[in-house]
Amino acid sequence: MRRALALIVPVLVAVACAPEGGETVRTYFPDGDPVTGRQAFTEMACYVCHTVVGDTFPEPHASPPVPVELGPDLASMSRGVMVESIIAPSHRIPEDLEGVRRGELSRMGDYSEAMTVRQLIDIVAYLEHLGRQ
Ligand code: HEC
Repeated sequence: MRRALALIVPVLVAVACAPEGGETVRTYFPDGDPVTGRQAFTEMACYVCHTVVGDTFPEPHASPPVPVELGPDLASMSRGVMVESIIAPSHRIPEDLEGVRRGELSRMGDYSEAMTVRQLIDIVAYLEHLGRQ
């Protein structure tokens, strides 16, 4: 068993870290808590780049500014795409917007080491809740 893990774990880590590749999965994603999600959004300083329509945070101060507001429009985004936007922002970057890329990658960067799964679940609940107010 140990040997199998010793083989499998590095492969999984390599896949998770690879800039290209990956696979679209359809999976159950639990409901989170929007209040805790708002707290996580603040702790992760997502407002440095995003204004949130319908909520109040410190002014974004990314330079150049990021032209992507978060708000009630997200209600039409599937939970899958929302999760993807957070855990793999470079996977799909809007073609028509200036100031969203750094080279080939999204300026949003990589939260995979900074964010717990719980925070991800709750942030998704918070963003979905913006569309239900
Ligand atoms: C350094 C700037 C920056 C920070 C900080 C940042 N983002 Fe983003 N975000 C972007 C950019 C640029 C885009 C658009 C390009 C893309 O889709 O990757 C984006 C797109 C998104 C989208 C998709 C919105 C849409 O309408 O398509 C979501 C959802 C999102 N961010 C959530 C978050 C959350 C949650 C955090 C904090 C954990 C966060 N962002 C932190 C820059 C940032």
